[in-house]
Amino acid sequence: MDPMSLVRASVAEMSGYVPGEQPVPRPGLIKLNTNENPWEPPSRVIQALTVELGPLSLRRYPDPGARLVRELACRVYGHGLIAEQVIVGNGSDDLLTMIMRTFVDPGDRVAAPSPTYTLYEALTRLQGGCYREVPWREDGCLPVEELVRIGAKVVFVVRPNAPTGHVVALEEVSRLCQTVQGMVVLDEAYVDFADDHGLGLLSRHPNLMVIRTFSKSMAMAGLRIGLGFMEPRLAMELHKVRDSYNINAFSQMAARIALECHEDYRPLWQEIRQQRQRLTLELRRRGFAVADSQANFILAQVPDRQPDAGWWLEQLKDRGIFVRYFAKDPRLVNKLRITIGRKEELDRFLAVIDDLIRS
Ligand SMILES: Cc1ncc(COP(=O)(O)O)c(C=O)c1O
Repeated sequence: MDPMSLVRASVAEMSGYVPGEQPVPRPGLIKLNTNENPWEPPSRVIQALTVELGPLSLRRYPDPGARLVRELACRVYGHGLIAEQVIVGNGSDDLLTMIMRTFVDPGDRVAAPSPTYTLYEALTRLQGGCYREVPWREDGCLPVEELVRIGAKVVFVVRPNAPTGHVVALEEVSRLCQTVQGMVVLDEAYVDFADDHGLGLLSRHPNLMVIRTFSKSMAMAGLRIGLGFMEPRLAMELHKVRDSYNINAFSQMAARIALECHEDYRPLWQEIRQQRQRLTLELRRRGFAVADSQANFILAQVPDRQPDAGWWLEQLKDRGIFVRYFAKDPRLVNKLRITIGRKEELDRFLAVIDDLIRS
C-alpha cells in the first residue's frame, strides 16, 4: 500500500501556501519582501527581555491561555475590551486556522475581496471549504452586495489591504457585518501604520472578529504572536480548537513586555509612514504607478515600455534586494510589493532602480 493514498484529497490536491523567501542573512542584503519591521524592537523591550529571561522557568509549561497578555492587551487597546474577548495566537496565521476550524465545515463557503492575503484560500481548502473571491471595486470600496450574495460563512477583509495597502471605510465594514449571514474577520495585520482601526466596531457587531499581529508593527515576526478580539462566547469556542499551549513561554513574556512598552513603538511607526511617503513619491517620479498605501509596504507597477516585473524582481535580487512579486495573480501582474525599509535601505533601493532604468 502506498501511504500517499491515505493523504486527504484536500491536502493532496492543493499546492500549499508559499511564504515569501527568507534568505540567509548576509551583509548588505536588503530585505523588503515580507513586510517585517526594518528595526529591532525598542531598546526598553530588548533590555526587559534580557532581564526577565533569567527568572523565566523553561522547564514549566507556559500559561495555556496567555492570560497576562490578554489582560494587558485590553489595557493598551481600550475600547472597553475584557480579557474574555481576547485570544492569543502563534502568529495571526494560527488565529486564522482556529477561525477556520471553528466555523468551516466541508462544503461551507469562505469569501474575500481580492486581491487579498493568499493564505485564506489555502486554509479554506484544507478545511474542505469552498473559497470565493470578489474583486475590490475600482475605487477601492468593498463589494458588499457581491460578498453577501456568495452566502459565505466567513468573509475576510484585510484593512489596510494586502497587497494593495489601500484602506476601506470602516462604515463599509460595518455595513458588511450588518448584511452578511456569516462571520466577518477584519484582519488588521498592518493597522498600526494606518490612520484608524476597527476595534470600536466590535461592540456593535457580534459577528465581527478583529485580528492583529506582532509580526509587523511590533517588530516580533520571529516570535510568532497574534491577537484576536471577538465576543466572549466566540472566544470560548476558539479556545477549544487551539493547541493547548500554543504560545511558548518566551513569546508570552515578549508579548507582555512589548505591550507594556507600546508607546515606545510610535516613533518607529511614524518613521515608516514618512519613508512610505518618500518611496511613493520617488517611485512615481521614476515612472512607477504607486497607489496610496496605509500599510508598511507599497504596491508599485513597473513603468510602461520597460521589462516586466519578473525582470525587475530578478535584477534587484542579483543586487541583494528582495521584494515580492505575485506573478500568478492577473491583477497583480507587473506590480512589485515593496516593504518600507530604513531610509538607507530605500536610498540604496532607489539607486539600484536608477541604475536599472539607465541600463
Ligand atoms: C494580511 C495578513 N494577515 C496575517 C498575516 C500573518 O502574520 P503572522 O502570522 O506573522 O502574525 C500576514 C503576514 O504577512 C498578512 O499579510
